[in-house]
Amino acid sequence: MAAMAAAAAMAPPAHAAPEKGALFDPVASVVMTPRCVNCHQAEAPRQKDFAVLHAQQVVRGKNGHGSAVLQCAACHQGTNTAGGKVPGAPNWHLAPLSMRWQGLDKKGVCRQMRDPARNGNRKTGEQVIEHMKTDPLVLWAWQPGASRTLPPMSHEAFVRALEQWAAAGMPCPD
Ligand code: HEC
Ligand code: HEC
Repeated sequence: MAAMAAAAAMAPPAHAAPEKGALFDPVASVVMTPRCVNCHQAEAPRQKDFAVLHAQQVVRGKNGHGSAVLQCAACHQGTNTAGGKVPGAPNWHLAPLSMRWQGLDKKGVCRQMRDPARNGNRKTGEQVIEHMKTDPLVLWAWQPGASRTLPPMSHEAFVRALEQWAAAGMPCPD
């Protein structure tokens, strides 16, 4: 009898809410795709779906805009080139070093994203997701040009997932 009672006490209640951290799963499914991660690197951008180091020895430079002699804007314009060979969006440059996702798993990216010390001093959920709702560099991922692969859901669906995650207090997976 005692064993049965203990087992019953350990079983989760039938109405248990799904793990809150799971709210980050749809967000991660977009954020961790090559279109985003290729720019959220430490030393240099990456290219293609297999994250090969950027050709022409392009590097971060002092402020993410490249070296003094080879700036991103020498090639990347405000829009994709005709045919889409060279991707483009206004102010094209690498994400700041503190916002690199290189080597991070889903949980690591989640924690980085909600940490004001590493996300550009964004504090509230609304501040954290605003950039992903509106920034042209983010929106570019849905119009990447050439035959580049797209994130796994529409930008609208991504925004809905972001709003649910933010409303729940930005929970991260365990
Ligand atoms: C061309 C390079 C580039 C691409 C592509 C890019 N980013 Fe960024 N990202 C940046 C830069 C630059 C910043 C810093 C902007 C700032 O702090 O205002 C940034 C900052 C961020 C931040 C931190 C600010 C915050 O709101 O917490 C997030 C999150 C983010 N990007 C998400 C994404 C997602 C999601 C994608 C793909 C859908 C993406 N980025 C694609 C360059 C890029
Ligand atoms: C000499 C020209 C040139 C310079 C300078 C340059 N790029 Fe590129 N970049 C390209 C070309 C061309 C491609 C397309 C490569 C392909 O997909 O075949 C590209 C692709 C990329 C991609 C891959 C996009 C994707 O997800 O497919 C990123 C990210 C990127 N560049 C970031 C940068 C950043 C950041 C800088 C400055 C630090 C920079 N580039 C400087 C020419 C350049």
